[in-house]
Formats: sequence, C-alpha cells, structure tokens
Amino acid sequence: MKNSTDAAFILKDVNLSFGSVPILSNVNLSIQERGVTSIIGPSGSGKTTLLRTLNRLNDALPSFQCTGSVLFRGQSIYTNGTGPIDVPRLRQHIGMVMQKPCLFPTTIYKNVVFGLKRLQLKPRSDFSSIVEETLQAVSLWDEVKDRLHRPANDLSQGQQQRLAFARALACEPTALLLDEPTASLDPQSTQAIETLIQELGTRMPVILVTHRLEQAKRLSETVIFLSEGCVCEWGGVDDMFACPSEEKTQQYLAGHTL
Ligand SMILES: Nc1ncnc2c1ncn2[C@@H]1O[C@H](COP(=O)(O)OP(=O)(O)OP(=O)(O)O)[C@@H](O)[C@H]1O
Ligand SMILES: [Mg+2]
Repeated sequence: MKNSTDAAFILKDVNLSFGSVPILSNVNLSIQERGVTSIIGPSGSGKTTLLRTLNRLNDALPSFQCTGSVLFRGQSIYTNGTGPIDVPRLRQHIGMVMQKPCLFPTTIYKNVVFGLKRLQLKPRSDFSSIVEETLQAVSLWDEVKDRLHRPANDLSQGQQQRLAFARALACEPTALLLDEPTASLDPQSTQAIETLIQELGTRMPVILVTHRLEQAKRLSETVIFLSEGCVCEWGGVDDMFACPSEEKTQQYLAGHTL
C-alpha cells in the first residue's frame, strides 16, 4: 500500500526499541483519516508498543527509543522545529483505551471528567451531561448510573474497560487508539463496543489492536500484520484475509479460526 498525503498518521523509517533490544524496525505506514485499521500479530510482536508510540505514551518508559519520523496530520509528534510539543494536547486529539484499563483511584464520575477538567475543555456545567452521554455510548450507563460517585476500582474488569473508553471519548478525540478494547467483555458488550467502533470509524481514524481476527475482519478496512520485529504485511482487509502475500501472514492466519 502506498503512502498518502491525506493520511492521519504517517510513519517513515521508524525503529522502536527498549534499550538495546529492537522491537520493531523499518516501519513505514500511512493510516487514513477515516476508517478502522486493525493491528494484528502474535503476542509480543510489538502491537502495544507501536500503538503507544502514536501518542507518545512510551515516553515515560526510560529505555524506550524511537527513531525515524512519526507524523500526525502532517506534524512530527516527536520533534518540532518551532518549540516543544504540547503532549497533553496531542493526547487530547489522539485518545487511547489501553490494554489494561488504568483508572484513577477516584470515582466513576471523576474518571470520566478527568481529562476535561485538566485540559479545561468544557465548562463544569456540561460535565453531568457529558458523563451520561459517554457512559451511554459505551453501554455502561445503566450499570453505573446509581453509583457514579463510588470508586471506579470497584467495577469489574469489563466495566473498567468500558469506563476507560468513556473517559477517552469525553475529551472529544479526533483519532482513537484502542488496545484490545473488548478483551474483557461479554458477547453483548462486545457487540455494543464493536458498533461504537464502526460508528467512530466513519468520523475519525481508529486504530484497533486485536487478537480476534474475526473482529479485525468485521470492523476494519485495513490490516497491519506485525511479526518478528517488523511490519510483515499491511493492506486492505479483504486481500489480507483472502490472499495474504507473505508466507508468515498465511501461517498466522491459518493458525486462527475465522
Ligand atoms: N517497558 C518495557 N521494557 C522493556 N521491554 C518491553 C517493555 N514493554 C514491552 N516490552 C517488550 O516489547 C515487546 C513487544 O511488547 P508489546 O507489549 O508491544 O507486544 P504485544 O504485541 O502488544 O503483545 P500482546 O499481544 O501480548 O499484548 C515484548 O518483547 C515486550 O517484552
Ligand atoms: Mg499488547
């Protein structure tokens, strides 16, 4: 697939490593402004590391190194010729739902509005309606509406995952990174979240890490397959699943039931 100038993300010759251990090398990708892109690959192939690179979430890990160029809407997110990058603002635009829902040790309500308050995005008078809207969007409202001021950490894993999704939506991101967002969900919640992902993909770039190949097939237009330290193959979902060009992709897909 060729790089495109109207892409939301463009990665050129990107190398990611922890200390001296290379994780992904020579990554060249472009991700379009709309639609769902799935990242698939074996455990440990670098899916989470790649995703976290896109909103600079690996920066906190002291041994992490990123070389090459990562552009978001034409701007480099790691270097800026005119001054420092405003990372909190970048993360407001590029929302993320992490593999392990990492909630703040406070109430459900305060978790949802955390970013809104910190970035002063909306007046406080809007908070209650934003909390309801976002919790409705992730199909969590009915389960928590009577305990919004109880600790978020009392929620089940699947509820915490949906709460983390609501928190990301509250900041009105213009791009979304989702790391196995349905991993802890039952079939009904999974279906609701998949519908939401599809709807979001009509408005913004959504990058979805998933181990569920049937989910990648259902939801995405583009698939990126990581294996053995590189992007082994990427392209349109139909081509990738019907006739992958790389042998490693064929073997990986053959090992999974679709
Ligand atoms: N903070 C870190 N320090 C050192 N190595 C790390 C760190 N985080 C991840 N790694 C290593 O980077 C590699 C890629 O990890 P990553 O979490 O990106 O894989 P993944 O494809 O998301 O796996 P999974 O499907 O299990 O979530 C692994 O070998 C992992 O051990
Ligand atoms: Mg991962």
